[in-house]
Amino acid sequence: MRRARTATKPGNLGETLKPLFEAALEARTHAHAPYSRFPVGAALRSREGGVFAGCNVENASYPLVTCAEAGAISAMVAAGHKEIVEFLVIGGADKVITPCGACRQRLREFARPGVRVHCMTPQGERTTFSVGALLPSAFGPEHLTEL
Ligand code: THU
Repeated sequence: MRRARTATKPGNLGETLKPLFEAALEARTHAHAPYSRFPVGAALRSREGGVFAGCNVENASYPLVTCAEAGAISAMVAAGHKEIVEFLVIGGADKVITPCGACRQRLREFARPGVRVHCMTPQGERTTFSVGALLPSAFGPEHLTEL
């Protein structure tokens, strides 16, 4: 699997990554995670140049949780933007988290295989994957052309 690992500090983030890191960190503070106590924040940049963020939203009926990634993608779609060109997710402090299987499929819907997904801790540790590496040989919109 193609994977680039970079340890960095938030202050040293590149100009494109910093706004995503800050947006995800801010959204993470609004996470509704009273059951898992595991707040997650996500942010993306759209091809149109917008930055959209989301946090996980849990429910007393546990399976109804929505992931931070899903929230960020919904915010982008609601704004009329069509394509993700960069994505970032921040989970807990111990180690970086990667998007769950369902969210990898959600990313696949709106991002080309080469789009980078930065998986970070709040302290700035980062591991970067491509969408294609996270979900190889994926089913996608182009498979529905017969409709
Ligand atoms: N969670 C996310 O929001 N994104 C992920 O990529 C992994 C998991 C949330 C769901 C749940 O609220 C909590 O983290 C623990 O699973």
